[in-house]
Amino acid sequence: MNTRTQLSRLGLFDAKVPRYTSYPTAPHFGAAVTGGDFASWIRGLPENGTISLYLHVPFCRKLCWFCACRTQGTATMSPVAAYVETLKAELDMLATHLPAGTRLSRLHWGGGTPTLLTPELMQGLIDKVRQVAPFAEGAEFSVEIDPNEIDEARLDVLAGGGMNRASIGVQDFDEQIQEAIGRPQGFEITRRAVEMIRARGVASLNADILYGLPHQTRARITETVQKLLSFAPDRVALYGYAHVPWMAKRQQLIPSDALPTPPERLELFETARRLFAWDGYAEIGIDHFAAPDDGLAIARKTGRLRRNFQGYTDDGAEVLIGLGASSISRFPQGYAQNAPATSAYTAAIREGSFATTRGHAFAGDDLLRARMIEMLMCDFRIHSDELVADYGADPSELAALYARTNARFEGLLEVTGEGLYIPASARPLTRMIAREFDAYDMSKARHSSAV
Ligand SMILES: C[S@@+](CC[C@H](N)C(=O)[O-])C[C@H]1O[C@@H](n2cnc3c(N)ncnc32)[C@H](O)[C@@H]1O
Ligand code: SF4
Repeated sequence: MNTRTQLSRLGLFDAKVPRYTSYPTAPHFGAAVTGGDFASWIRGLPENGTISLYLHVPFCRKLCWFCACRTQGTATMSPVAAYVETLKAELDMLATHLPAGTRLSRLHWGGGTPTLLTPELMQGLIDKVRQVAPFAEGAEFSVEIDPNEIDEARLDVLAGGGMNRASIGVQDFDEQIQEAIGRPQGFEITRRAVEMIRARGVASLNADILYGLPHQTRARITETVQKLLSFAPDRVALYGYAHVPWMAKRQQLIPSDALPTPPERLELFETARRLFAWDGYAEIGIDHFAAPDDGLAIARKTGRLRRNFQGYTDDGAEVLIGLGASSISRFPQGYAQNAPATSAYTAAIREGSFATTRGHAFAGDDLLRARMIEMLMCDFRIHSDELVADYGADPSELAALYARTNARFEGLLEVTGEGLYIPASARPLTRMIAREFDAYDMSKARHSSAV
């Protein structure tokens, strides 16, 4: 069993490491990938295949101070309506390149706040998506829902359009914390949103909560988790609050002297983690929890858990296409990212060109390293057999890499003939361990606290 002193000596409380929702991570993308590559990668997909589709809506009625997402505040609907028209135009462009018979295994609307759309705008977008690619059997349609920004009419359209996974933003139920993070959201508002979602038979309810918030204590996070458990969510994301005021300027409004220290963050995470585990939730990777019959829990058990830009998934599709400003797509050939600024994105699409401005074409040992990091983030284990069979890895080089990594972490890991394993006691170090397999220059990484 390791101690806090050992975790501290290993650098856990000082390290800033990527979250590894891709490898290489987005700061390593460059201008070499263009809209032409994006188009040809789409055309190169097999006929009758399945893809995952992500639509980004970078608007919110009011910006929460804590939020580090790419979004902008708007008091009126006209920029949102114009943006939806642009998204529909981008979907039409996608349709001209997609091979025949392509279907969707996943459709995800994220943001920002996609539920800011009026029912009419939502319906128009759903119809356009269906026209471009129908749902495959068993497909999932998930939407990020801000409980402050939802009503019966909008839920009717979403549920009628096939939404079967609703993801609500909770963050924390404590009023003092909500005030400090600029996100007022009374418990009743959240409870009412959950009730409306359930009443429409939406199969799965997900919720996001945060640890590491100003004024958060073990007692407060316990209360938040208990209140959340009263909704019996199918999945919970327990994200560490990323305080990056130099990037997300609105975070300058957050009282930094009220933030917990890194060791306190670890305690907050552990407190919440234990509560979910006691309640029968399966632990999914580094920061998710799922009811035992949820797809993520089953994927974790059967070794099919994957990691992508939306976090953890049981989606088997190799291709994720992200549309909208700043969205990232992943193909077997590499990553392509749209222009982050809504204005630049809109200008490109209106001119009839894809809005790709950056990306990364896989080269060298990228795919091997990407898989090793994904295995660690999903299964806390690297299986050498798969790497040798699928990526032509050299077993002796792998063994040397594992031994070096284990030495760096003072023997806390398990190295066997089958591979490398992170036992439960060393799991707070997972992202730092994953970083050992990252060959890119860390000074370029977009950092967030290791704990
Ligand atoms: C893109 S937001 C969309 C959620 C939706 N607009 C809402 O407010 O409910 C998705 C999630 O990102 C997480 N998030 C945003 N800013 C964060 C930060 N600074 N650190 C960690 N997680 C953050 C929050 O948990 C949030 O629910
Ligand atoms: S948390 Fe949601 S509502 Fe708040 S600013 Fe971020 S995306 Fe917008």
